Amino acid sequence: MRVVSLCGSLRSASSTRLALNIALNAAKSAGADVSELPLAGLPWCDGRAGSYGPEVDSFRQALRSADAILIGSPEYHGSFTGILKNALDLLEENELRGKLVGLVAVARGEAGAVNTLNHLRHVARWVDAWVLPAQVSIPNAGSAFSADGSVQRPGLGEELERLGTELVRYGKLLGGS
Ligand SMILES: Cc1cc2nc3c(=O)[nH]c(=O)nc-3n(C[C@H](O)[C@H](O)[C@H](O)COP(=O)(O)O)c2cc1C
Repeated sequence: MRVVSLCGSLRSASSTRLALNIALNAAKSAGADVSELPLAGLPWCDGRAGSYGPEVDSFRQALRSADAILIGSPEYHGSFTGILKNALDLLEENELRGKLVGLVAVARGEAGAVNTLNHLRHVARWVDAWVLPAQVSIPNAGSAFSADGSVQRPGLGEELERLGTELVRYGKLLGGS
């Protein structure tokens, strides 16, 4: 069972990445091979039909060989980030077909990142992925984690761990081993 994460924030101190890593570690404890696929160096999707080069080829190959994908994004102007959309746009339409997807999103505001999660769910459904009903929205992201990266908010760590564990559990049902 292979689980990869995509982080829609390029910030080194990203709260999205901290959240993803907690879920990813829980997936690892549940028996999965886990890794993050970095989005920073990917080229722009310009709509061409041909190759985008070796970096995109290996990004796509890593996603194809994954059983489940953990996607996280900060909320930017009411939706997920451009860097994440670009990464998803670089994929062929059927490359996420049948994959299990778990969603995490963070926002500065106290309303949380539900719009971001809904938009990601919509895109994942569009490419025929299975999206877990459970998802994690993190409001007031600036105070959710302490400077050393540990979780500050009661219950948040457990919620993220549950998401990682569910990815493995349901990913196995979908055919991951
Ligand atoms: C361009 C931009 C737009 C943003 N739009 C929103 C927004 O619509 N709602 C919100 O609550 N926070 C918004 N934020 C704040 C980020 O969601 C917040 O800082 C988040 O914690 C950043 O995630 P990161 O730590 O993973 O980079 C915005 C930030 C940026 C840079």
